[in-house]
Amino acid sequence: MKKTSVFFIFISFLAVGWFVNSSGLHWLTELYAQEKKIEAKSETKPAVKPETKPKAKPASSVQAPVAVEPLTGVGHPRIIVPEEYGNVVLDRYSSAKNFKPVVFPHWWHRSQYTCKVCHLDLGFKMQAGADDIKMVDIFQGKSCGTCHNGKIAFAPAGPKGANCQRCHSYGIKVPQNRDAKGYLSTLPRSPFGNKVDWVKALDEGKIAPKANLDGTGKMIVLPVNVIRPLPNPILPDVVYPHKPHTQVLACQLCHTAIFQMKAMATPMTMLDIFKGKFCGVCHGKVAFPVENCLRCHSKK
Ligand code: HEC
Ligand code: HEC
Ligand code: HEC
Ligand code: HEC
Ligand code: HEC
Ligand code: HEC
Repeated sequence: MKKTSVFFIFISFLAVGWFVNSSGLHWLTELYAQEKKIEAKSETKPAVKPETKPKAKPASSVQAPVAVEPLTGVGHPRIIVPEEYGNVVLDRYSSAKNFKPVVFPHWWHRSQYTCKVCHLDLGFKMQAGADDIKMVDIFQGKSCGTCHNGKIAFAPAGPKGANCQRCHSYGIKVPQNRDAKGYLSTLPRSPFGNKVDWVKALDEGKIAPKANLDGTGKMIVLPVNVIRPLPNPILPDVVYPHKPHTQVLACQLCHTAIFQMKAMATPMTMLDIFKGKFCGVCHGKVAFPVENCLRCHSKK
C-alpha cells in the first residue's frame, strides 16, 4: 500500500475518534461498551449443559481464543486474527456428543466457489447457526456432503475416520488442513478482515471461484453504482458498487430480502449496519469489516 494511503487512513481514524467523542455520535461508543459487556458475560458463563439444552447453543462466527490486537479504531472491540476472520463455528450438536465443534472456513471456500453456489443454489443461510446439519445428511450427499463426498472434496470419513477432524477442528490444529496464513499471504493485501483484498484477488485472476457446482455457469454482473448521500457531510457519501458484489452474489440474495431494487428506497443507518443488518449482513462477518470506513464512504 502507498504511504499516502496509510497516512490517509491514520488521519481518518484520528478524525473519526475526535468526531465520535465530540459529536452526537455516542452510539458508536455505546455500542462498543455494549459489545464488551456481552462478551465479558459470554466468557464467564459456564457451558450450557448438553442434557438440558442441546439445541439452544448458538453458533458463533469467531473462534476463541483469539489474539487481541490493540484497538486502533471504532468498530469491533475485538479484532479477530486474519486467518480466522469469516470462520463459522457450528455446534448445535457436536460438543453435546463429545465431538469438537465444526469450523467452516469461508476464506478457503470462497476462493473455490462464489457465495451464490452455497447461499442460493445449495441454500445455506447467511446466518451462523441457522442451518440444522446432521452427519446423516452429509453421508447422504446433502449439505456439506454435496461436495464432501470423496469426489469434489474429501469424504466425510476417510481412512480410519481420518477426515472427521478436518471439519471437527475447533481449538485443534489439523495437519491435513491448509495453512491459512500461508495461503492468504499469496493474495493481494488489504488492511482489515482476512487482510485480503478479495475484489482484487478475483479481478487479477488470483482466485477463480466457480459460479455453479460444476464450474460451467457464469455470474450475471451488473456495473451499476448506487450513491447514498449522508444526512450530514462529515464523511464522504457511500458508493455501493454492484459490480464486485454481483461477481460473487446473485441478485436474489440481496433483492428484496435485504434491499429494495431502487436507489434510496431502503432506509438504513450506520448503527443498523453495526448491528449486522443491511450491508452488515456480510460486512463484519465474511466481507471486509466496518472498520474500513473509507472503502464504503468513498464518493470523491
Ligand atoms: C462452500 C459454501 C459456502 C460459500 C462458497 C460461501 N458460504 Fe457463507 N456460509 C456457508 C455456511 C455453511 C455458513 C453457515 C450457515 C449456518 O451456520 O447455518 C455460512 C454463513 C455465512 C454468513 C453468516 C456468518 C455469521 O457469522 O453469521 C455470511 C454473512 C455468509 N456466509 C456470507 C458469504 C459470502 C459473502 C460468501 C462469498 C464471498 C460466502 N458466504 C460463501 C457456506 C458458504
Ligand atoms: C460447494 C462445495 C463445498 C461445500 C458445500 C462445502 N465444501 Fe468444504 N471444501 C470444498 C472443497 C473443494 C475443499 C477442498 C478439498 C480438499 O482439500 O480436498 C473443501 C475443503 C474443506 C475444508 C478444509 C479446508 C482446509 O483448510 O484445507 C474444511 C474444513 C471444509 N471444507 C469444511 C466444510 C464444511 C463444514 C462444510 C459444510 C458446512 C463444507 N465444507 C461445505 C468444497 C465444499
Ligand atoms: C465435511 C465436514 C464434516 C466431516 C468430514 C465430518 N463432519 Fe460431523 N458434522 C459436520 C457438521 C457441519 C455437523 C453439524 C455441526 C453442529 O451443528 O454441531 C456435524 C455434526 C456431527 C455430529 C453431531 C450431529 C449428529 O449428526 O450426530 C457428530 C456426532 C459428528 N458430526 C461426527 C462425525 C464423525 C464421526 C465424522 C467422521 C466419520 C465426521 N463427523 C466428519 C461436518 C463434518
Ligand atoms: C450485495 C447486495 C446486492 C446484490 C447482490 C444486488 N444488488 Fe441491486 N442494489 C443493492 C443496493 C444496496 C441497492 C440500493 C438500494 C437503496 O438505495 O435503497 C440496489 C439497487 C438496485 C437497483 C436500483 C438502482 C437505481 O439506481 O435505482 C437495481 C435496478 C438493482 N439493484 C438491480 C440488481 C440486479 C439486477 C442484481 C443482480 C444482477 C442486483 N441488483 C444485485 C444491493 C444489491
Ligand atoms: C460496508 C459499508 C460501510 C462501511 C464500512 C461504513 N459505512 Fe458508514 N454508512 C454506510 C451506509 C450504507 C450508510 C447509510 C447512508 C445513508 O444514509 O443512506 C452509512 C452511514 C453513515 C453515517 C451517517 C449517519 C448514520 O448514522 O447513518 C456515518 C456518520 C457513518 N456511516 C460513519 C461511518 C464510520 C465512522 C465508519 C467506519 C467505522 C463507517 N461509516 C463504515 C456504509 C458503510
Ligand atoms: C450479501 C453480502 C453483502 C452485502 C449485503 C453487502 N456486501 Fe459489500 N461486499 C460483499 C463482498 C463479498 C465483497 C467482496 C470483498 C470482501 O469480501 O471483502 C464486498 C465488497 C464491497 C466493496 C468493495 C468494492 C471494491 O471494489 O473494492 C464495497 C465498497 C462494498 N462492498 C460496499 C457495500 C455496501 C455500501 C453495502 C450496503 C449498501 C454492501 N456492500 C452490502 C458482500 C456484501
